[in-house]
Amino acid sequence: MTSASTSQYDVIIIGAGAAGLMCAATAGYRGRKVLVLDHANKPGKKILMSGGGRCNFTNLNSTPANFLSDNPRFCISALKRYTPQDFLELVDRHGVEYEEKAPGQLFCKDSAKDILNLLLTECEWAGATIRMNTGISQIEAQDTGYRLLTSSGGKLSCQSLVIATGGLSIPTMGATGFGYDLARQFDLTVLPTRAGLVPFTLHPELKEQLSPLSGVSCPVDVSCHNQHFREPMLVTHRGLSGPAMLQISSYWHPGDSLAINLLPACHIRDDLLALRNSKPRSTVGQYLAQHLPKRFAQAFNDLNQWQGPLQGYRNSDIDEVASQLGQWSIKPAGTEGYRTAEVTLGGVDTRQLSSKTMAVLDRPNLYFIGEVVDVTGHLGGHNFQWAWASGVVAGQHA
Ligand code: FDA
Repeated sequence: MTSASTSQYDVIIIGAGAAGLMCAATAGYRGRKVLVLDHANKPGKKILMSGGGRCNFTNLNSTPANFLSDNPRFCISALKRYTPQDFLELVDRHGVEYEEKAPGQLFCKDSAKDILNLLLTECEWAGATIRMNTGISQIEAQDTGYRLLTSSGGKLSCQSLVIATGGLSIPTMGATGFGYDLARQFDLTVLPTRAGLVPFTLHPELKEQLSPLSGVSCPVDVSCHNQHFREPMLVTHRGLSGPAMLQISSYWHPGDSLAINLLPACHIRDDLLALRNSKPRSTVGQYLAQHLPKRFAQAFNDLNQWQGPLQGYRNSDIDEVASQLGQWSIKPAGTEGYRTAEVTLGGVDTRQLSSKTMAVLDRPNLYFIGEVVDVTGHLGGHNFQWAWASGVVAGQHA
């Protein structure tokens, strides 16, 4: 490659997703000559499909406790430097209308397009160039930066290189392992990856037993490995989904069981004992129907074959019913995997990065941001907040 035929930039960012676009605008406003490259035909595809098309763009209650990482303190610095309030100010400046659907969870009122347009406008105002349909076939380190060869044969060079290629979830949206491969090329450790925020699949027998419940949702408290989430669970024709199951999936490993409390708001054992005293002819089914969606109550009662009035139940029988309802133990067959996962757990080991700039510690002009890094948020807007925060801090230094 000769410099005569090589286009030069201060900063090249690979990946025109949430983190890459935020980084591009931030670096552009600093007067840096910025180019964003992406192999997809359109930028920000995941933004468009996020939050059911309305993009849950941040969470006002986001704290480091909402993130999983092998190095849990790493995310603190970036999240402090760029907060949900900072992103909200940007949203307000662009006049994007939003609503708080659940405590702290902010969604676009109209469409996720508003967030993508905001980012593209910021990039334009900051003078950053975005080039789509561009794969990268080779990257080489030079004394003062990097040389890139694009798949179409174009030669580019930059002082700072930012990797924002995301994780492996939803390959049909352009996800690749590019960032992990590049990290390995530069001798960085990549922690094992797995699908997170993903529905569970069930073994055939349980799937069959739960099939009458398909489409039914109820609030539960699910736990695994000392983590628990109190949110709705949805039974689907493939297995278990809904916020509770997506959240706990990030903590689940193959072979683990889940403990599901179907009546988290009740004192089940005390309720049943009291009911046996006050209304001895009432049934477990009637108790369930008071607290669960009717179809769920009926099917769960049938599944457990709870019959007859409570007066026929010994204390030990009531203990058993209470345990089945309060700690229903399920061993999922697996998850739906990257095909439907919202995020990828694991990734570039953060111990090799500066938490203040996202640069590689012994290679200060190479940056990793967003989902490619081993920082994964809970459901509810935390993953975009990480993309914005890591993108901004890298953009302030690249
Ligand atoms: P992102 O995946 O957004 O971008 C990576 C970019 O790199 C893509 O444009 C891709 O084409 C490009 N790329 C990949 N490989 C490349 C290569 N080899 N060469 C060139 N370019 C390459 N989060 C949240 O907070 N709120 C929400 O509502 C949702 N909802 C949601 C729904 C669904 C269905 C999914 C799948 C995910 C969510 N998320 C979410 C998660 C959120 O979308 C995710 O965490 C961020 O998009 C991550 O941003 P990044 O910029 O790191 O990667």
